[in-house]
Amino acid sequence: MKTEIIVIDPKRPEQDKLLYCGAVIRYGGIVAFPTETVYGLGASAFSADAASKVFEAKGRPADNPLIVHVCDYDMAQTAARFEDEGQSRLFYLLGNEFWPGPLTMIVNKRDSVPDNITCGLGTVGIRMPSNKIAAGLIRAAGVPIAAPSANSSGRPSPTRFSHVLEDMRGKIDVIIDGGDCSVGVESTVLSLAGNEPMILRPGAVTREDVERVCGRCEEYDWRKNDKPVDRPLSPGMKYRHYAPKARMTVYSGEKEDVEARILQKIFEEKTSGKRVGVLATDDQICYYKGADIVLSLGPENAPEEHARRLFDALRKFDEEGADAIYAYSLGLGGVDNAVMNRMFRAAGGTIEEIERK
Ligand code: TXA
Ligand code: MG
Repeated sequence: MKTEIIVIDPKRPEQDKLLYCGAVIRYGGIVAFPTETVYGLGASAFSADAASKVFEAKGRPADNPLIVHVCDYDMAQTAARFEDEGQSRLFYLLGNEFWPGPLTMIVNKRDSVPDNITCGLGTVGIRMPSNKIAAGLIRAAGVPIAAPSANSSGRPSPTRFSHVLEDMRGKIDVIIDGGDCSVGVESTVLSLAGNEPMILRPGAVTREDVERVCGRCEEYDWRKNDKPVDRPLSPGMKYRHYAPKARMTVYSGEKEDVEARILQKIFEEKTSGKRVGVLATDDQICYYKGADIVLSLGPENAPEEHARRLFDALRKFDEEGADAIYAYSLGLGGVDNAVMNRMFRAAGGTIEEIERK
């Protein structure tokens, strides 16, 4: 399949290009487009056939549902149905605060959304993105857009046009080149389908942010690998994800102890002929000059910067042919919680605690 590349200005998206891409979606095609979080792989949310093409292009398991993107509340109503007044009140309260933006809310679904998009669940994830190209594209399509992240299943999510090109060229109709994503990790997935609002996937909108607006919010503890009992769980959380080709190890503990361990690992890997990468913050990278590839997530106390850089860094390690990647865990404040969740999963679901000697 020939994939068309269309460059669109992220500050002032050209209307003629949006109308064209919108038509591709409306008539059943697949368009990759930038959002403020990561690039999405978009199809009409009212077409089962188009959605199945998305699953195929990604190689995504059929039991992991897609998020539905809307440009206004009227459009949201065409996909969402509210369980009761409580659910709709929370939906509008939170939407008023965080939309357009990096929050996905899980509510009951309408029959208009085909079952393969929601994988047979009675619920649907709805998000109103703030990125101008994304918002303009949805409006131009005239239908809600079902879109997972535009990476091949299991790979790090794409935060730049070049990442999408790498994974999707030849597999979909159009890729929009619309610049880099400003947030860099996927949206917070918040379920409104249970008794209490509950964060199923952490993102830039934090538990504290949600609590501030509606007074209560639970969060699934992603550091425990066991499944929560009797609770809604995001199907996507069970897969190894965001993974670079290299094996990745994340350490937590006192700074000096972790540094010593990473230095030891650099030595061991190199002696056995492996290419070794280190992922750290600005204040630490100077210690790891002995590694083959050293990438920084930015200043130590800059969670937003960590979020913007993480997926790009994971892909760079692959490009540079790293066999192993070692990283020092970040704090869990603000969006660092989401960054750590992605690092944890890229490392296959473990963080190794280094004991004080
Ligand atoms: O920021 C984002 O959310 C990006 C951009 C493109 O909007 N999209 C994205 O989609 O990350 P995806 O498909 O890679 O991740 C969607 C997550 C998955 O973990 C999925 O299991 C969960 O949302 N999800 C979707 N619908 C759900 C539902 N009805 N119930 C529970 N979890 C759901
Ligand atoms: Mg994804």
